[in-house]
Amino acid sequence: MKNQITQYETHLNRITFFLNGEKITADIPAGISTLDWLHTKKHLYGTKCSCNEGDCGACTVVIAFPFEGIIIYQAITSCLYPAAKLHGKHLITIEGLGSPEKLHPIQQALLTHHGIQCGYCTPGFVLSLFALFAMQPHPDRKTVFSALEGNLCRCGTYQNILNAVDELSANQNVKDLVPAWCRKVEQELFRFQEQDSMLVVKTEIPQQVNCYLMPETTKQLFDLCAEHPESVFIAGGTDIMVQKNINRKEFPFLIDLTAIPEFNRLYLQQDGLHIGSAVTYNQLWESGIVKTHFPVLHNLISQIASQQIRNFGTLGGNIANASPVGDTIPLLMVLNASLWLQSQLELRHIPLKDFFLAYRKTALQKGEIIKEIIIPPLTEDNYVKTVKSAKRQSVDISSVITAVNIEYKNGRIINSALAIGGVASIPVLSKKFPFLLKSKQIKALDPAAIGKEIESEFEPITDVRGTALFRRELIRNHLILYLQELQEAENEL
Ligand SMILES: Cc1cc2nc3c(=O)[nH]c(=O)nc-3n(C[C@H](O)[C@H](O)[C@H](O)COP(=O)(O)OP(=O)(O)OC[C@H]3O[C@@H](n4cnc5c(N)ncnc54)[C@H](O)[C@@H]3O)c2cc1C
Ligand code: FES
Ligand code: FES
Repeated sequence: MKNQITQYETHLNRITFFLNGEKITADIPAGISTLDWLHTKKHLYGTKCSCNEGDCGACTVVIAFPFEGIIIYQAITSCLYPAAKLHGKHLITIEGLGSPEKLHPIQQALLTHHGIQCGYCTPGFVLSLFALFAMQPHPDRKTVFSALEGNLCRCGTYQNILNAVDELSANQNVKDLVPAWCRKVEQELFRFQEQDSMLVVKTEIPQQVNCYLMPETTKQLFDLCAEHPESVFIAGGTDIMVQKNINRKEFPFLIDLTAIPEFNRLYLQQDGLHIGSAVTYNQLWESGIVKTHFPVLHNLISQIASQQIRNFGTLGGNIANASPVGDTIPLLMVLNASLWLQSQLELRHIPLKDFFLAYRKTALQKGEIIKEIIIPPLTEDNYVKTVKSAKRQSVDISSVITAVNIEYKNGRIINSALAIGGVASIPVLSKKFPFLLKSKQIKALDPAAIGKEIESEFEPITDVRGTALFRRELIRNHLILYLQELQEAENEL
């Protein structure tokens, strides 16, 4: 593997950003995570490392950047966040927020309420809370849970932390939790947008990633792909950076897709919702269009990963990653979603159901990207739902995830689709389901019998997320849930 590295020239990224209020320009190793950069280059160890794969939240830091005319403060897991993405942003770490002589009010509240035992998780909790209060001074309990779902405390101080949160949100001056030096940087962040792109600088030092490139137009993107056919694309990096950190995978060229404006667009047209492949889960969740027109997608997003991951993970990445348990895929399949795929030579349209070919193998050709995901409009006479079964409510991969779309009129089923993840090497559509439901009266359906019939259509494997038997039972129970709920709705009419 090492020989492969020397085959290519290695590069650093010259980035300019703000670190705890101070503008800095740094040459960073290509593909280095924000956490590794803080530790190895700045010797700032307040941000902790525990899992190095996005699961524990010990490494949480906050980034601030302009978005649609305002400054957004977001908590992210720095172990997975490529430092190159910091270009033009403000990085806030625990060292910036407080000092032993002058604790930040969030630190003081945690101390007062004994929300700190060993203290290892504390910087992560403080930064998650800082992002929360910066955006929402008086959050309700649900919002607090959502903000903290990605932070683990081995000492179990959760209730004490919640007591501290209650005190903070009851305080009328809570908006002052964002220090003046952060507010000052906000103005500079708006101005920064007009400045130069990130530079790539040669180095002799061997690295795990030879080169991290961040094109700003599709032309630049495909020129780079032509020059470096061995490139791997990166969007949020929540899958790629795990491969880098945990599997020690090496990458000759990583091409980041997120700085290209057209991949960040989200809009509604007559043919449905268009989602640029670099749109993050958080953008989708916040979107009024999604809330109003696709509430089922809005609800699903809150069950994916954690707030820190959703802030930079993307829908495009979930699809391209082609995991058999990718949470968004069954729902998108039953909604008849399709993809625009783009390469230097071609722009082609493909139904999502034809995208997955074999385990982690997709219809993407070399140098081809997912440009956009399109979800056709939902009609009112459709029952659409998705159910995820996992061991925990947050930060957990599904054992089984299913989705249904049942179109009916006057109590009779016209069309239906069921898709399942976690029972085969790729997410699959049930062949039996539409056949079993076709033209049936909703009231006459036998949910248990249909559940049993569908269960026998699949041969799930046994692995750490469940035995084959357990997965079959999950399928049956999901089916019973869907059909009984549909019948109850019909009975209420
Ligand atoms: C702690 C944690 C929890 C998670 N929980 C969940 C969960 O609950 N449910 C779930 O489904 N997933 C989960 N994931 C997985 C991951 O967050 C998602 O799959 C996410 O959607 C990946 O998006 P990304 O932008 O980060 O992808 P990246 O890591 O950037 O890329 C993933 C793959 O897609 C390719 N790629 C990305 N964008 C494109 C594009 N536009 N065109 C072509 N190829 C592209 C990359 O080359 C790579 O192979 C979790 C991950 C972590 C670390
Ligand atoms: S170290 Fe655990 S989430 Fe980053
Ligand atoms: S206080 Fe020890 S891990 Fe949270």
